[in-house]
Amino acid sequence: MNDAAIEALRRAVAAAPDDVDLRVHLGELLARSGRTAESLAEAAVALQLAPENLAAQALMRVALDRSAAPAEPTLPHPGFDWASAEAQLDGTVPPMFVTQGAPDGPVFEREASTITFADVGGMDRVKERLDAAFLAPLRNPELRALYGKKLRGGLLMYGPPGCGKTYLARAIAGELGAAFINVGLADVLDPMLGVSESNVHEIFQQARRDGPTVLFLDEVDALGQRRSKMVGNAMRGVVNQLLIELDGVASDNDGLFVLAATNQPWDVDPAFRRPGRFDRTVLVLPPDLTARRAILASELTGRPVESIDLDRLAAATDGYSGADLAHICEAASESALLDSVRTGRVRMIGMGDLEAAIREVRPSIGEWLDIARNVVLFGNDDGSYSELRDFLKRRKRI
Ligand SMILES: Nc1ncnc2c1ncn2[C@@H]1O[C@H](COP(=O)(O)OP(=O)(O)OP(=O)(O)O)[C@@H](O)[C@H]1O
Ligand SMILES: [Mg+2]
Repeated sequence: MNDAAIEALRRAVAAAPDDVDLRVHLGELLARSGRTAESLAEAAVALQLAPENLAAQALMRVALDRSAAPAEPTLPHPGFDWASAEAQLDGTVPPMFVTQGAPDGPVFEREASTITFADVGGMDRVKERLDAAFLAPLRNPELRALYGKKLRGGLLMYGPPGCGKTYLARAIAGELGAAFINVGLADVLDPMLGVSESNVHEIFQQARRDGPTVLFLDEVDALGQRRSKMVGNAMRGVVNQLLIELDGVASDNDGLFVLAATNQPWDVDPAFRRPGRFDRTVLVLPPDLTARRAILASELTGRPVESIDLDRLAAATDGYSGADLAHICEAASESALLDSVRTGRVRMIGMGDLEAAIREVRPSIGEWLDIARNVVLFGNDDGSYSELRDFLKRRKRI
């Protein structure tokens, strides 16, 4: 009964997101139903909209109390619990319907596209490159048809960890109006002979099944690195399987767009990088000023913040990755929340919390820059890292 009321209120709040009273009411219902985390989130947004609102402050206090208290035991569900019965039976009875492909092969989540380039702050150079190298040809209907049939290969994004490769891949899916499937290649590899290949095949089958899809192959460096751990020439088999799927000779690749990413392009199997394969590369660098501002804004939205100078924070975080910035916001919220719990007085997250967090959190990409520097200086450079070389020069690393 409460759940139905909550859902109805959620819809009302979605329709009138600035209505503080409505939101507080939703938060109270959530708190009463034991959904503390959700209630805390509503309280946070309400306080952000109206820091002085007494009901919102009270709700925050209740939610904080609850979240500090040990979890309440949940009442047993009345009636028969189908979910747990199914879980108990799982594996003991054969599946009712036969599905295509390996019955216990990997299943990958299809995400609907929710962001586009408009949600990617700054990073104009990367967006331009991605547009020229990937999106522009697809906007041309003839080239797009050709892409499915003859235009082989995909685009490889590389760069330091936490700087937006996955985020950009999602945005590309949004630009194409395609679904998004995220696959960590390291998870696909299996020491059992032939299993990695069938996993790869299964992923592509799933991606082809319904409508336009961006298939994002993450950690493609695993293909190079794990070679020593694989039996015999097994990795060759995986690379070959990938190329067969990309070719789409035996299958219809219409509406399938393949992107790959790695933090260590120098470890990627060279067979993968040959012309016609993943031969186009785009370097994704740490977020610029505009990007940092956008990341901070999005990380702080929905948290109870007060008098935040985003420009100052963005200026103070040069060299931090997107993931570092998320971490900074998390740390700042935590210290404000702990303070509130300790003193019993609700306190908003302020500049002081964020600046203290910036001092505490060190940029995480230093190690990556050191490796990149060695590769550029001492690796046999065939020109594929010229963009990286320019960046390191600008940063006075070489
Ligand atoms: N330009 C941007 N605008 C808005 N948010 C961004 C931007 N760049 C990165 N982010 C945010 O930064 C975080 C890290 O980005 P992401 O996970 O895409 O990095 P990654 O390069 O894929 O990292 P990894 O190498 O660890 O897989 C994400 O939460 C993303 O939302
Ligand atoms: Mg990623």
